[in-house]
Amino acid sequence: MKLPFALARRFVAGETLEQAIPKVSDLNEKGINVTLDLLGENVTDRKMAREAAENYIDLLKGIEQAGLKSSISIKLTMMGLDIDQEFCRDNLFRLLDTARKHDQFVRIDMEASDYTQQTIELFKEAFREYGKHVGIVIQAYLHRTKQDIEELAEIGADVRLCKGAYNEPERLALQSMPAIREAFKEYAATLLQKTPYPRIATHDDELINWVIDHAEENKIGKSRFEFQMLYGLRQDTMEEFTRQGYNTRIYVPYGTRWLPYFKRRLTERKENIWFVLSTMFKS
Ligand code: FDA
Repeated sequence: MKLPFALARRFVAGETLEQAIPKVSDLNEKGINVTLDLLGENVTDRKMAREAAENYIDLLKGIEQAGLKSSISIKLTMMGLDIDQEFCRDNLFRLLDTARKHDQFVRIDMEASDYTQQTIELFKEAFREYGKHVGIVIQAYLHRTKQDIEELAEIGADVRLCKGAYNEPERLALQSMPAIREAFKEYAATLLQKTPYPRIATHDDELINWVIDHAEENKIGKSRFEFQMLYGLRQDTMEEFTRQGYNTRIYVPYGTRWLPYFKRRLTERKENIWFVLSTMFKS
């Protein structure tokens, strides 16, 4: 059964790039950068995975043509990670060739823990080849992150730090919010100290305020990091941060395959269910 897009539109900017572009332009005009995400994950067919890479390449070209201030985020399982790592790497590198040619940036989103090792391996390979055109995401809730963050900081990787959005077991991931927040702060401090430009991705005031205070105490300028939030959540806060001189970026997903992303937003915070209901009643 195909669910109506009206359900998702609080969190998803449209089903096509054309529908998303005005929303991106509006954010750009407010001084907020964007990361566009063409939704989709877990492709198991080679032809579809190749097509996904082509669609991402077209997206990079579309961003340039529309003059948007936007990078892109991708999921490796959309480009064939479930099929074969080498095949996925070929697709990723084809995309990164275009990004390098047009001086654009591709971030590799982090998916569930089954993919963490392969994602980090492919990122490191890509970083060696494409440098500043590629970044990765690290999830504070995973136990392994303590080690990963040190290694990624060591090579000066461009890291987006988030809590983690998947349902992971206790043996792999912290389960309580206070423990996840403490880990997040520790990793944010490492990234701020050791990497050129960390991306702090959270809507959580405790973490945001901690980063602001930590940066001030350690004389880390506002231009050395950015805050990132998701489309549809706390845009007013992002506008306020922008006015205060912080770098800000909103992650704007679009596309027809919005269901898994939409479900993650609903399960991580009960208030999001009310947002969806209120959007529907306004339509
Ligand atoms: P969380 O939902 O934990 O809420 C904590 C507190 O923050 C709340 O109690 C409330 O006080 C405050 N808060 C939260 N939302 C609010 C709102 N809308 N309004 C007011 N207050 C609010 N995950 C992943 O696994 N892989 C990935 O690649 C990414 N990528 C990514 C990019 C970006 C830009 C963001 C912002 C997030 C991700 N995530 C992600 C998702 C991330 O891991 C996490 O699931 C969500 O951001 C939810 O965690 P938060 O810390 O934002 O708030």
